[in-house]
Amino acid sequence: MVQITINGKQIEVPEGTTVLRAAEMAGIHIPKLCDHKELTPYGGCRLCIVEVQGVRVPMASCTLPVNNGMVVNTETEALKKSRKFVLSMLFSERNHFCPFCQVSGGDCELQNAAYDEEMTHWPIQPGWNNFVVDTSHPYFVLDNNRCILCRRCVRACAEMAGNFTLSVAERGAKSMIVADTDVPLGESTCIKCGSCVQVCPTGAIIDRTAAYQMHDKDLTEVKSICNGCSVGCSIKLMVRDNRIIRIEGDWDGSVNRGVLCETGRYNAANETRKRVTTPMIKKSGKLEPVSWEEALKAVSTKLSPLASDKDGIAAIASTRLSAETLTAFKDLFSRNQLVTSLEEGMPSASVMKFAEKQGAFEGKLEVLRTADTVMCIGANVGTTHMVAGFMFKRNMPKGTRVINIDPQEDALDDVASLSLKNKPGSDLALILGLQAIIVKEGLERRPMSIADVDARIDEAVRVTGISIDKLTQVARMLANSITPVILYGKGITGQRNESLVEELYKLAVLVGAVDSERA
Ligand code: SF4
Ligand code: SF4
Ligand code: SF4
Ligand code: FES
Repeated sequence: MVQITINGKQIEVPEGTTVLRAAEMAGIHIPKLCDHKELTPYGGCRLCIVEVQGVRVPMASCTLPVNNGMVVNTETEALKKSRKFVLSMLFSERNHFCPFCQVSGGDCELQNAAYDEEMTHWPIQPGWNNFVVDTSHPYFVLDNNRCILCRRCVRACAEMAGNFTLSVAERGAKSMIVADTDVPLGESTCIKCGSCVQVCPTGAIIDRTAAYQMHDKDLTEVKSICNGCSVGCSIKLMVRDNRIIRIEGDWDGSVNRGVLCETGRYNAANETRKRVTTPMIKKSGKLEPVSWEEALKAVSTKLSPLASDKDGIAAIASTRLSAETLTAFKDLFSRNQLVTSLEEGMPSASVMKFAEKQGAFEGKLEVLRTADTVMCIGANVGTTHMVAGFMFKRNMPKGTRVINIDPQEDALDDVASLSLKNKPGSDLALILGLQAIIVKEGLERRPMSIADVDARIDEAVRVTGISIDKLTQVARMLANSITPVILYGKGITGQRNESLVEELYKLAVLVGAVDSERA
């Protein structure tokens, strides 16, 4: 721990903490713009400057690590003057005519900072670079005229979504946020996660649907969980008059830490169909709203005569329902013996059977954040469970390797270190082949005996259609990793083959992807 004094207050913080975070921990406010708690410090706006005893010039507190015995001041007259100057420069650089801006009046961090610093006017005449407003994206508008070049959006795109679409083009006053090689956002590699919208501190990136529909202070915030997939991201519904205005990722959500995918952020908010709020019964060929009493009576009248007929009722429930609802559903149809057999959800049945034998064996999503190699097999994670994909995609520039094995096309194919298209139905042979290569090369972390290693490898090459070189590459990548993770999905579980899950588990044991800490 490190001792530091801020504004006369002594505090103790972990080594490596920045002065800005240390101040926040102590409840001391330092104005800031480019800093964001979920993003790597950048130090671009200079609004967070502080005075450090013994240092000649003010320092940006968001990039300054604490030192033992450091004495910091955040509220001197000189600092206030400098902050006003920083804000004047930011305002003068672009078009900040607040009355015409969507976020003006409480939702703009730049305007709020100006009020806090008691700015009354622009002391510097604005420059008039005229940037083209990019309206090509279906969900948001990018207006570089209101950009302060804080790069939060660029960092969010890379560090949260792992997508690296946004960057800064040009130099100096002409600097602007662009997508890919300066193509319209709507034609870019953007995957519509909306992370850039959520972090932008000004009116430079605005949500098309939510724009001009009230300030945040007038919206009710309702915390919930996205039911778009099994990742279960925490969301905040911003609601007005019982209507969703927009959806934000919950920064406090332990699973997603603020990031969402297109489904979670935009689907519900852009839903145009009317919500059915009462039960309906078809009367004279037309659906009519009825009371719950009438609806339940109608259902029971229809179902009761069929209760004694074992083939009389087929009951189907969506896997998107809550566990409680599915349990009640199962109780209704099995305990009351309205139906005699229940078909478990197809994808999960083989996993459940293996888990009954093996005990809990799957790891937590959290391990994806620290994995150095991720092998996705039949997971389609770049399309169906995007936020899980973000957790490791974002680490690829730091060396994380991604292997995607799937006969189907997946968004992950474009970025994976290795993408293998095995023949449909050949996953078992592929997994057995990988085990055999690892054993043959002596790379296994736990002993495993395989009767005829070479025959197994030949079989894998023949059945999968993947060359021995590629299979060996995958086996070595996995086996030589320190923190490997194997991610499987419906492509595996949907085959309803328990031994497929079991052999995948054995492969995970072989390469050290299953141990007491990471399981
Ligand atoms: S981005 Fe903020 S400061 Fe700029 S015009 Fe909009 S409200 Fe005003
Ligand atoms: S929506 Fe997501 S992927 Fe698209 S530019 Fe913004 S952060 Fe990047
Ligand atoms: S678009 Fe917004 S988040 Fe991106 S650099 Fe400009 S002001 Fe910052
Ligand atoms: S918040 Fe520190 S430089 Fe921008």
